[in-house]
Amino acid sequence: MAEEDNIYEIRSRLDRPLLLIGLMGSGKTRIGRALAGALGLGFIDSDDEIEKAAGMDIADIFDKFGEPYFRDGEKRVIARLLDEGVQVIATGGGAVMMPETAERVWRDTISIWVRAEMPVMLERTGRNDRRPLLRGGDPAEILAGLVEKRYPVYEKANIVIDSHNGPVEAILNQTLTKLHDFLYR
Ligand code: S3P
Repeated sequence: MAEEDNIYEIRSRLDRPLLLIGLMGSGKTRIGRALAGALGLGFIDSDDEIEKAAGMDIADIFDKFGEPYFRDGEKRVIARLLDEGVQVIATGGGAVMMPETAERVWRDTISIWVRAEMPVMLERTGRNDRRPLLRGGDPAEILAGLVEKRYPVYEKANIVIDSHNGPVEAILNQTLTKLHDFLYR
């Protein structure tokens, strides 16, 4: 099918937000932005919204107030974003580990798990020091622990896409095809 037809058909059936989940460094923001651009939808990153609401970056929120405070803000921000209609939302890796958020995500969105291989996530998260959860030890070990704990939850997503370091267009095409298949299954 021509790409414009694919996009037109997706748009005509889309009645819920598209929400990206996945581990840190999997590429949720990069793919989410490209997906929103292709579909002519708005894009929003829940981590950015939390930072705006708190007036400080995530690492500072963790340092000053701790993770439970961050999770509480994350829960409220995502609940608000889900009420804003059809748009593309990228979430932080821990968002759907909160049962209340997960319940709404599975019910009210089309969820897309962005999955990447460990070396890709390690390389990307190693580019800066912005992930407080990776500061407390060996990032490879921490990420491996999160794979174990979170993948059984991420697996509930409606769509799974494989992310890599190649051109974003390739991942975007994969996403559009899977999204179309899901909507017309
Ligand atoms: C977190 C992931 C981060 C951010 C916070 C906690 C997590 O977002 O929300 O540092 O629990 O996995 P990204 O997945 O966008 O890096």
